[in-house]
Order: sequence, then structure tokens, then C-alpha cells
Amino acid sequence: MSAEKILATSALPYANGDIHLGHLVEYIQTDIWVRFRKMQGRECYYVCADDTHGTPIMLRAEKEGITPEALIERVHAEHVRDFAGFHIGFDCYHSTNSPENRALAREIYLRLKNAGLIEVRTIQQFYDPVKSMFLPDRFIKGECPKCGAKDQYGDNCEVCGAAYAPTDLKNPYSAISGAVPVLRDSEHYFFKLGQAENFLRQWTRAGHLQEEAANKMAEWFGQGLQSWDISRDAPYFGFEIPDAPGKYFYVWLDAPIGYMASFKKLADEKSLDFDAWWGADSGAELHHFIGKDILYFHALFWPAMLQHAGYRTPTRIYAHGFLTVDGAKMSKSRGTFITARSYLDAGLDPEWLRYYFAAKLNGTMEDIDLNLEDFVARVNSDLVGKFVNIASRCAGFINKRFQGQLSAELPPSNLLAKFNGEELWRRIGRLYGDREYGKAIREIMALVDEVNQYIDAEKPWELAKLEIDDLRLHQVCSLCLNFFWRLSVLLKPVLPALADEVQGFLNLDASRMKWGQFNALPAGHGIRSYNHLMTRIDRKQIDALLEANRQSLAAAPSPVRHAEHQQHMENKAIAPIAETISIDDFAKIDLRIAKIVNAEHVEGAEKLLRLTLDIGEGKTRNVFAGIKSAYAPEQLVGRLTVMVANLAPRKMKFGLSEGMVLAASGDGPGLFILSPDAGARPGMRVK
Ligand code: MSP
Ligand code: ZN
Repeated sequence: MSAEKILATSALPYANGDIHLGHLVEYIQTDIWVRFRKMQGRECYYVCADDTHGTPIMLRAEKEGITPEALIERVHAEHVRDFAGFHIGFDCYHSTNSPENRALAREIYLRLKNAGLIEVRTIQQFYDPVKSMFLPDRFIKGECPKCGAKDQYGDNCEVCGAAYAPTDLKNPYSAISGAVPVLRDSEHYFFKLGQAENFLRQWTRAGHLQEEAANKMAEWFGQGLQSWDISRDAPYFGFEIPDAPGKYFYVWLDAPIGYMASFKKLADEKSLDFDAWWGADSGAELHHFIGKDILYFHALFWPAMLQHAGYRTPTRIYAHGFLTVDGAKMSKSRGTFITARSYLDAGLDPEWLRYYFAAKLNGTMEDIDLNLEDFVARVNSDLVGKFVNIASRCAGFINKRFQGQLSAELPPSNLLAKFNGEELWRRIGRLYGDREYGKAIREIMALVDEVNQYIDAEKPWELAKLEIDDLRLHQVCSLCLNFFWRLSVLLKPVLPALADEVQGFLNLDASRMKWGQFNALPAGHGIRSYNHLMTRIDRKQIDALLEANRQSLAAAPSPVRHAEHQQHMENKAIAPIAETISIDDFAKIDLRIAKIVNAEHVEGAEKLLRLTLDIGEGKTRNVFAGIKSAYAPEQLVGRLTVMVANLAPRKMKFGLSEGMVLAASGDGPGLFILSPDAGARPGMRVK
């Protein structure tokens, strides 16, 4: 039997960006789980907070001309509103920049220090000579020391998953100013993670992690656990380290402590015993829901910190995959980087998304895809066409013909026996508990299908035609409303607002909305009048949503908003910046203004146009350009553009290409050749 007390958390979103549908995968996943536990009657709390510290937030505030405190306060209000809009039912949504967190971070640090787990070392760290500050890991980019992938951040590699120090990067550059950083000495504080290795090796294999996560850990152990750098130099927005003026806790030190701080606030409000949940001998369960990108922090640093500071460690850490939209990373240019706010503002029902995510979610770290066609189809067919349809097919008769009262008796029904059997609730309950929501939804929808088959067989609309069938009509519709009640309870973790409406219209008290229950509604139970519970999605609404998110690209804030560890989804909105080159490297490329004197199709070439270019050499050049998809030859003739004039000629299937024209493209469709401003002449050098 599991514990009665459960604390669940989702990762704390950074306080410098909007909540988007990717985030919502996690908050919806956690919320469903928590709602299910609460319906089971567990004492379950769900806490979260904004993750407010670090350089990106400091720089963002600076750019907006406000204090970091003002920025995080504004974003806090936005996040709270967005989450409420999707029915994310936090018991406490706090901030890491809180007195509770300051006190706990200080205490945990001092306990680790007293246990001899903190060391101070002078390290060489990258310093941006243009911006006059030490550069946080995430503001240095370069090549991964392990796999050589380009444009990786300074703390870990998105390609091979390796974690390392920024000084290990090859060919580093500052992501703030682009300057080549210089190494400077600085005193840093370290948590000696190596001393926790025995504990961690055992802990990560003791059933707290998904198997794939535990395997990932084993790889990391293989590389040896390095001490973890937990300090940052001023200027920094965060908590100053006790007895270390000018040194601040690295944001990832106090961020997970934010889970405790948020619970502390709740405990103070509700007079809960904090130690009964967080003390070393706590009998409560602690469940962290996170994205797979932050596993390292949650499965290594966090349990090690807790263990060695004398607190309890997590019961389970659940990592989920990333959201893709129509099979690709969310993209600002395609409009698929959809914010929570834009979705709600477009008048879309949050429970459509909750349902769709639930139908797609499972207990693994696999990515999940929001396929927009499928989204429209599934919501319309499952939720509106099948589920809500049960009520709309039966409630009207009860209201109109039987004064809103259910029948005194119900017809014998195997399906009713199934709903009243413990088996069904245990099976679907286990699926919710195991985060196998997709399977739970499939089982529930199979029941929905059975109910609809029953209605199709009984044909209440036919029974309604003859008075002699009144009793049958009354009983059939009453039975189906009983089914509808039970189905609404089964779906309540996913569709809490809809379940509330059902509770209202079926006139049920709260105890009827709990998990389980092995009886039917009382004979003659009176219901209220039925109003349609959910509308269909129109594909046009989705297109408008994409358009709204595409437009917001122009208004997108500076690149400095990128979060401390990896807001990679946002970064990937543009292709990564290539490695730094010197001015001499650049000077090797001879770019010239070229006049397109002729353009024509090339027989047998799918993508190419043949361009005849004049750069004032007294002869023309022949260049094949892969721009056929974007331009008709006649649109090009007579235009000026830019060409690489010193590219080695290349023998192609269709002839010799003597240079290259430049064109812009993103990851979406579209290709755009360049034009100089008026006044430029063929042959002018571009530099
Ligand atoms: N602030 C850190 C977490 C600190 S927890 C002590 C952070 N913030 S975040 O805003 O970048 O992400 C918050 C959560 O949302 C993370 O678990 C992250 O994995 C998740 N997701 C962010 N983008 C996501 C997708 N596109 N898809 C699925 N989950 C995503 O990390
Ligand atoms: Zn790598």
C-alpha cells in the first residue's frame, strides 16, 4: 500500500519566458496525476514556482530597463494566469526569489559545508571583455569536447548529452557580445559530488528512476563525477553565499530547493508539518515530474544535496520527452511555437489540449507529437462525437418527458456491472498512477463506444415515438446517464472543468466524483437541465492560432532571453550561429554585386535555374542556382544580386558553374535571393 501523503512537483519554469505548449506537456501530465491521486482520497499536494535567478533574467530586466524583481513579479502573474487557464491545479505556486527559499538554500549549503562537502578553488573562467562580466556557461558557445558538435552551450551538449566545463569547449565565443572570451581567475565554490558517488550509484538503481534514465546515469558514472561548481560572481541575480561577499549561488543550486520552499509556504498556510514531508525519516512520497533535458540536475545533484544535508530524497523522478508539432520541433517561423496565452486568447478550449496530450502520453521519455490534423479529428470524434454525445442523446428525454427524474429501476445490464466492478477502477487507476494515460484513455473510449452501441441498439428516439415504450425510454436514458456519470469520473483527472459541469447538470454532490464507487444513482434522482457541454474544433481556429504565433515573431524579444540551461526550443527557431571566424577568414570570400542578364530553366534539373551574371569583368559568368522552387526566370532577369565571385568553378551535370548567388532560407518554406540598395553597380565588392 502506498503512502497516504504525496507531494508532487513539476519543474520550475524560468521567469523570463512565456509558457508554451511544450511546457504544458509537463504541467498537464503532472496535474492529471495529482488530480487522480486526490480523487483516490490521498493527501496529495502539487507545488511549483517560478525559477527566477540567473544571468538571463538579470540581462533581460536590464534590457527592459526595470529591476529583476519587477520583471519576475510581472512574469509570475502571467504564468499564474496561463496555468489557471489550463486548469493546472497547483496547491502553491511560489517563487525561488522568496524568503523561504533564501532560508532553505542557506541552511542546506551550511549543512553541506559542515559535512566537509564544499571546497573553494580558484578557477579560470571565461570573461567577456566587451560586456565586462564573467560569462555563465550558457552564454558561451563552442564545439562539444566529446563529440565535436558545433554551437553547443558551455555546460552540456545537446547532441551527445555530455556534461563538461565551459573551458572544455573548443573555439568558444560569447553569446552576448560575440567577443572571444578571455580566461580570468576567480574563486569558486564547489559541491564535492564525488563524495556522494557511492550513495548515488546505489540510489539511481533503487527504483527511483525510469530504467532508461538509470541507464543514462550509469553512463555518467562511467565518466567519473566531478565536483559541481555552485557559485557565480557578481553581477548576478540570486542569493549571496553566506560569508562569501560578491559570490552568489548558481541558479541550479537554489532552483530545486524551490520545491521545498514552495511546500514550506503551503505548510505555513495550512499548518502542515514540514518535517513530516521533508525530514530524513519522512513517510511521505515525493514525486518530481521533469523533462528529460534536466535529468542530470534532478537525478544526481538534487538527491545528493538532500541526502547529505539530512533531508529525505525523492521517491520517484519521472522524465518525459519533448513536444513536437506536426513531427518537427516547435518553430517560430512556422507558427508552431504556440504560447499558452495565444491558445486561450484564440478561444480554444484548454480541455481539448489536455485530452489530446493525455491520449498521447505514456511513462517513457519518448517525445510526443501534436499532430494538428489528428488533434482536430480526435477531439471532434472522441470527445464531442462520442463522449458528450451520450449526454446529448439521453438527457433531453429525461428533462422533457420525465420532469428531470431518473427512473425508479434500471434495466439489467452487463455494462453497469462492469462499471460497478472494482476491476475496472483498479485497472484504469493503475494506468493513471503509472502515467500510462494513453492506455487509460483508450480503455475509457472503448467503454464510451460500448455505451454508444447500447444507445444505437435501444434507439431512444424510436422509443420516444410510442407511449407504450415510455418506461423503456425512461430506463434506457437513466441507465445511460448513469454511464455518463461514471465516464465523467473516469475522465475527470483529464477533463476537470467538464467533469464539474457534469456534476452540476447531474446534480451530484462532491462525494459522487471520487474514484471508484460501486453503485448507481438513487432511484428517482433529479437532474438539472442539460446544456451542450463541449463544441467542436474548426480547423480554421488552428490556422488562426498558427498565424497569431507567426506574427508574434516580429515582436519577439532579444536573444538574451535564452534561459540559463537550455531554452533550446527557442534557440532552434533560427539555425545555430556558425563557429567564429577571423576578419581574415571573411576577407577570403570575394562577394560582388552581379546583374542577372539572363535566367532560364535547365532541362532535366528539378531545382536549378541557369543564371547569366555580369560582374563587370567584360565577360559573363554561368552560374547554376537552386532557386527554381522560389523564382520564375522572368522575375530575375535584369535584377541585381550578390554572388561569391572567387568560388572554385564546379563541373556539374549540366555544365560549369562559375560562382554562387546568395539566398536566405529558414527551416520553413521559402527562399529569398539578396538585392543591394539602389545605387549599387555590377562588380562592386561587398564586404
Ligand atoms: N528552470 C528549469 C527547471 C528548474 S527545476 C528545479 C527549466 N525551466 S524551463 O522553463 O526551461 O522548462 C520547464 C520544464 O518544461 C522542464 O521540465 C522542461 O523539460 C519542460 N519543457 C520545456 N520545453 C518543453 C518542450 N518543448 N516539450 C516538453 N517539455 C518541455 O528547465
Ligand atoms: Zn557532444
